[in-house]
This record gives sequence, structure tokens and C-alpha cells, in this order.
Amino acid sequence: MVRTTVAAALLGLFALSSASDSFLHKKPDVPGTIELPITLVNGANNEGPQYLVNISVGTPPQEVTVQLDTGSSDLWIFSSDNECNNKYGCLGGSFNENASSTLVNDMPNLLNYSYGSGDSGTGDYVLDDVHIGGHTIKNARFGISHTSKGEQPIYGLFGLAFPGNEFITNLNMSAYDTIVMKMSQQGLINSAAFSLYLNDDDGKKNILFGGYDKAKYSGELQTLDVVKPGHYGEWYVNITALGTSTVASNGSTTTTWFGNSSIAGTAFIDCGSPKMYLPAGSSMNAILNSGGKYDPNLQTTFIPCSAINDTKTTVDVKLGGSDPDGPLIKVRMSDLVAPYTGNGNVTFGGEEACSFGLSPGPDGFEVLGDAFIKGAYILFDMDKHTVSLAEAKLNVEERDIVAV
Ligand SMILES: *[C@@H]1O[C@H](CO)[C@@H](O)[C@H](O)[C@H]1NC(C)=O
Ligand SMILES: *[C@@H]1O[C@H](CO)[C@@H](O)[C@H](O)[C@H]1NC(C)=O
Ligand SMILES: *[C@@H]1O[C@H](CO)[C@@H](O)[C@H](O)[C@H]1NC(C)=O
Ligand SMILES: *[C@@H]1O[C@H](CO)[C@@H](O)[C@H](O)[C@H]1NC(C)=O
Ligand SMILES: *[C@@H]1O[C@H](CO)[C@@H](O)[C@H](O)[C@H]1NC(C)=O
Ligand SMILES: *[C@@H]1O[C@H](CO)[C@@H](O)[C@H](O)[C@H]1NC(C)=O
Ligand SMILES: *[C@@H]1O[C@H](CO)[C@@H](O)[C@H](O)[C@H]1NC(C)=O
Ligand SMILES: *[C@@H]1O[C@H](CO)[C@@H](O)[C@H](O)[C@H]1NC(C)=O
Ligand SMILES: *[C@@H]1O[C@H](CO)[C@@H](O)[C@H](O)[C@H]1NC(C)=O
Repeated sequence: MVRTTVAAALLGLFALSSASDSFLHKKPDVPGTIELPITLVNGANNEGPQYLVNISVGTPPQEVTVQLDTGSSDLWIFSSDNECNNKYGCLGGSFNENASSTLVNDMPNLLNYSYGSGDSGTGDYVLDDVHIGGHTIKNARFGISHTSKGEQPIYGLFGLAFPGNEFITNLNMSAYDTIVMKMSQQGLINSAAFSLYLNDDDGKKNILFGGYDKAKYSGELQTLDVVKPGHYGEWYVNITALGTSTVASNGSTTTTWFGNSSIAGTAFIDCGSPKMYLPAGSSMNAILNSGGKYDPNLQTTFIPCSAINDTKTTVDVKLGGSDPDGPLIKVRMSDLVAPYTGNGNVTFGGEEACSFGLSPGPDGFEVLGDAFIKGAYILFDMDKHTVSLAEAKLNVEERDIVAV
């Protein structure tokens, strides 16, 4: 007992000093908002980018690194008694729940998560303090994972979607207030909203809770209602059209649009998905028109790696359903081309083949993943059930933050 407590106290102190250290170097937050830096790692096994933040949990605080995920709704972390039977282990560190004096384990054995990647696990839903960017959220609901399995690299997850998508609802139990909702209820941020800025090559990516940053995008933010298929779960928006644009040497831009009627539908915005998945017909056209090809056996879209240097082509996504003036996000080629790390000796026209961030989705499965989000600055508003988007500016350090 004493040993555990001493070890936990040391761990807590270490976590605290590193947390306050990064806190000291950080610009002060605008009242009503909390900005948190994001670390990008390129997941092993072709898993694509993973956007990570550091938070700490419990009393004394224990630091863990978790992956941001707009495609799911639970915050959960690995317990330090997890044997981590998954291929890449428990990434991002773990949490010793017995060393936290504020933890309440009132919903044991009710956590049961599984993701499209095939990763799954079980554990408890608990209540405890969560510390984010130097602020404390009291008595927050989150999961601790005692078992886990899967073939893909996985961190604990910080789900950012609506309560209706929580794993607990699979058991027909009531949803609980998410971390972002708790932050708002406890007055740490003005409203349950957050913005994502991923489009920075130099590592100044961030998530801004409770506001948006006018310095990080061009034009105006355009607001869409989140589509509600029965209840609010994921960040579904209506899309209008998919196209490709090319800038000619004289500077004029030509855009070709594909299958406006077949693309129309809803897609969810998921920063936990490496790729965009859009309906087959229009995706295939956009892939071919960008110089790529789809390999149905490997279920991967390929493009010659040299495309990463193509600054003239963009893949264009028009949103807003029937509204002809809806937001238009132009996704840069360099954000769509990633090294191919999967199986098979793949070349493309004699050149090294890279994976391309757009694939035809299985019927009805439409996802606006990482490449799309890098092209956009996005404010997700849980209170208003809206998503506001504009084209992101690249590598901006200035701030012009507005609390919402
Ligand atoms: C999070 O913590 C890890 C490990 O301490 C560190 O390498 C990383 O830079 C931290 N990331 C951020 C965004 O503070
Ligand atoms: C916490 O204590 C319980 C009960 O003794 C034990 O089952 C569990 O494995 C412990 N957790 C950790 C992380 O050591
Ligand atoms: C978790 O859910 C899966 C799939 O729904 C189910 O097969 C499994 O038995 C559940 N595990 C636990 C411990 O409830
Ligand atoms: C949840 O409720 C639905 C509808 O009442 C039912 O079909 C389903 O079997 C229930 N699931 C569980 C896990 O109890
Ligand atoms: C999304 O599109 C569908 C089909 O056109 C329409 O019924 C629905 O009202 C739209 N929802 C939003 C929020 O725009
Ligand atoms: C620019 O070049 C494109 C393609 O070569 C051509 O279609 C277009 O007319 C040119 N525009 C101007 C203003 O010269
Ligand atoms: C397809 O959609 C785009 C963007 O909304 C629009 O500019 C274009 O005219 C549409 N094309 C057709 C054939 O409807
Ligand atoms: C992209 O361009 C840079 C600079 O010219 C070059 O070093 C690099 O090899 C190119 N990358 C590919 C994949 O062709
Ligand atoms: C891939 O290429 C390497 C080197 O050319 C060769 O040794 C290997 O057998 C090839 N693998 C497959 C699956 O073709």
C-alpha cells in the first residue's frame, strides 16, 4: 500500500511539474477559452496521422497522452493493470486508478469500446477530476480500459462528438455529459464548442475549447446545421459536390465537378479517420482526375509519391446540401499523399506509390477525415448543433481568438 502511494505521489509530482512546465511556456488563454497544443504522430501500419494532446487525470494528477477523435464521444484511458494484448501496446501511458483519491468507480465493467480500426477493449466508467491546459474539470465521466486488443496502434481516446454516440448507449443506458459539456457547465469555457487547427506543418496545431481563432482562416466562417439522423451522434454535415481544381501556368483555375447528385448526402467529420471516404462514382472520377488509381484488392487508393510536390491540384469538397453558396474546402495534394506502409510491392507507372487520402466508401459510408480537416478551420458547436468552416491558413502563429 505504502509503496503504491509513494510511487503514485512521485508519478503525480512528475506529471504535475511537466504539466506546469508546458503551461508556463504557453500564451495565456483568452477568458472563456482554453487552447491546447496538439502533437502529430504518423501512426504505424498505415494508420495515418494521429492527433495527440496531453491531459492529466485524478488526484494527484497523472499525465496521459490521448488521441483526439471527432468521430467518437467517450474519453477513455488505459488503466495501468491493462496487459495491453494489442499489437502496438497501450500507447500514451496509463493511469493507476487506485492512486487517485478523488476517483469514484460507480459503473464498473460497463465500458466496452470498439472502433472501425478493429481495436476494442473493456473496462469501467468512473468519475474523477480531469485536468486540461492547467484547468480542472471536477467529477468528469470517463472510461478506464482494463483489457484491450487489436492490430492497429491505439492511444486512449478523447472523443469529441455528441453523447448519443457514447458506447454506454449500446447497453441501452443513458448517455452522460461529455468532457466538453462538463467544461462548459463548470464555467471553464463559455459554451460547449471547440475549434480544430491541424493545418500547420511546423507543429503549431491546436484545439481551442470555447472559441475560434480568426487569424487561422481566410474568408468568413460559414455555418451549417449538423444533420440529425434520429439523434445527434457524430458530426454529420450535408455535402453537395466533389471536384478537382488545377491552376494553369497563367494562374487561372479550372474546376471539374463530379456527380453532384450522387455525391449529395451526409458525411461525418472525423479527425480519427486517416482518409476521406465518399461515394464510389464521384470518388473514382476525382481519384483518376488527380492522377491516382484505386486498388480494390488492397482497398487503397494509390498515387505516385511525386504528387506530394504538386502545388497546382486540389481536391474540392462543397458542403451545405442544396445551398449553392455553402462552404467550399480545397484540400491540397500535399495533405492527401502519404507514404504507403501496407503490404505488397506497389509501384505506380514505374514510380514509387504512395497512398492517397480519398477512397470510395462502402455504400452510405461517407467520412471527411484528416486530409479534409487539414484544409479547413472548423468550429464545432455542441450547444447550437452547428459546424462552421472556412479555408484554413497555413502555418499561422498569430492569434485573434473569439470566445463563443
Ligand atoms: C505530451 O507529452 C509527451 C511525453 O511527455 C511529450 O513528448 C509531448 O511533447 C507532449 N505533447 C504536448 C503537445 O505537450
Ligand atoms: C486497483 O485495485 C483493484 C482491487 O484491488 C485491482 O483489481 C486493480 O487491478 C487495481 N488497479 C491497478 C491499476 O493496479
Ligand atoms: C462487448 O461488446 C461486444 C460486441 O458487442 C460483445 O461481443 C462482448 O461480449 C462485450 N463484452 C463485454 C465484456 O460486455
Ligand atoms: C436495447 O433496446 C433495443 C430496443 O428496445 C433492443 O432491441 C436491444 O436488444 C436492447 N439492447 C440491449 C443491449 O439491451
Ligand atoms: C440534409 O439534406 C437532407 C436531404 O436533402 C435534408 O432533408 C436535410 O434537411 C438536410 N439537413 C441539413 C441540416 O441541412
Ligand atoms: C489560361 O490557361 C488556360 C489553360 O491553358 C486557358 O484555358 C485559359 O483560357 C487561360 N486564361 C487566360 C486568362 O489566359
Ligand atoms: C456541381 O456543383 C458545383 C458546386 O456546387 C457547381 O458549381 C456546379 O455547377 C455543379 N455542376 C453541375 C453539373 O450541376
Ligand atoms: C519533392 O521535391 C523535393 C524538392 O525538389 C525533392 O527533394 C523530393 O524528392 C520530391 N519528392 C518526391 C516524392 O518526388
Ligand atoms: C517485394 O520485392 C522484394 C525485393 O524486390 C522481394 O524480395 C519480395 O519477394 C517482393 N514481395 C512480394 C510480395 O512480391
